[in-house]
Amino acid sequence: MSTEALITELGQAQALLVALVEDVDDATFRSQYHPDLSPLGWHLGHCVFAECLWLHEKLRGDDSVTQPIADFYTPPRTPRAERGKRLPAQPALITWAKGLQAFNLHFLSNLRPEWQGHALLENDYLIHFLIQHNCQHYETMLMVLAQKALTKYQSGHTPHRPLQASKINSETASIPAGHYRIGGNKPVAYDNEVPPQQADLGPYAISKTPVSNSEYLAFIEDAGYQRRELWQDDGWNWRQENEISSPDHWRKTESGDWYAVSMRGCYDLADTEPVSGVSYHEARAFAHWADARLPHEYQWEAACRIGQLEQTGRVWEWCDNSFHAYEGFTPFPYPEYSQPWLDGKHFSLRGGSLHTRPAIKRPSFRNFFLADKRHIFAGLRLVY
Ligand code: AVJ
Ligand code: FE
Repeated sequence: MSTEALITELGQAQALLVALVEDVDDATFRSQYHPDLSPLGWHLGHCVFAECLWLHEKLRGDDSVTQPIADFYTPPRTPRAERGKRLPAQPALITWAKGLQAFNLHFLSNLRPEWQGHALLENDYLIHFLIQHNCQHYETMLMVLAQKALTKYQSGHTPHRPLQASKINSETASIPAGHYRIGGNKPVAYDNEVPPQQADLGPYAISKTPVSNSEYLAFIEDAGYQRRELWQDDGWNWRQENEISSPDHWRKTESGDWYAVSMRGCYDLADTEPVSGVSYHEARAFAHWADARLPHEYQWEAACRIGQLEQTGRVWEWCDNSFHAYEGFTPFPYPEYSQPWLDGKHFSLRGGSLHTRPAIKRPSFRNFFLADKRHIFAGLRLVY
């Protein structure tokens, strides 16, 4: 893509963030709706801060915008619970954000020759990075709105057509044993996707589609949440302590019918839609119940690359393995993007959700979260 087209795309990613923040009242702007999520307004400020950090502080050595706000917008330096009350007024933050966003686009479109050769701008690396960073936070802001909906919804929805359990769709793709290329390419890829790897995979069968709501209901109705033997120790402890017995946003009517809650209110769960709102623990238990496994992320990527997966990009798909460094991994553009999370406790997810922007959706993209996270629009697919 041309630099000009990328700058346009960055402008679109900026506008999406602003639109979400412009759309809400002041309470929504500054409230924390989930222990893992920041207020909506903070995400906008953080994304503008990140643009200025890279374009002005790192590239041309001017920290006049970033220095005064660095403590507030650098995640480990301000606890989430402090962020809402310290945010500026909503109109002031929006005006500030729009001004800097426009300036950053202008700066990129009129780059001075002395900065054009900077290593960070080689092949438009920084523009790709900032587009993707904005898009990742855009999805997180939609998680905020989804969590808000769960705290505010009115019960009493009656599903038009109640969700019915169904047996597992047995349609699989058979992937032959072989050496598969895994990984992405600079300048688009994040540090954790490179260098490209060769994975030696045995033959495997992978479901063509993610597990659906109906299939997941069959697990619930077969006492999947009550049967200790289906769960790993940490998953069972988590399930007991948190009294988990359905996906995050599923709710049941008095007569026992399931429906769901999203930012657009209560809605009927469609039989064939991929299930979402499940943690790694639940995904593992479901796979065990189905006499299957979760794919290793290399199995997912290999099957995706040869066109064997359907309905990718509807839910993030939990993979079996923990988030790990590829051989030859080098942190960039800063250590904290991937490095701290290569701790064996985060698990890889692939594909993307309905809320994931196209800039993020590629076969090599690796998302990562702890095993108990279920606010992230994640489901699963099976392998045999
Ligand atoms: C890769 C989605 C886990 O949201 O914490 C955003 C992405 N990193 N800013 C996150 C990220 C820095 C990250 N995840
Ligand atoms: Fe960030």
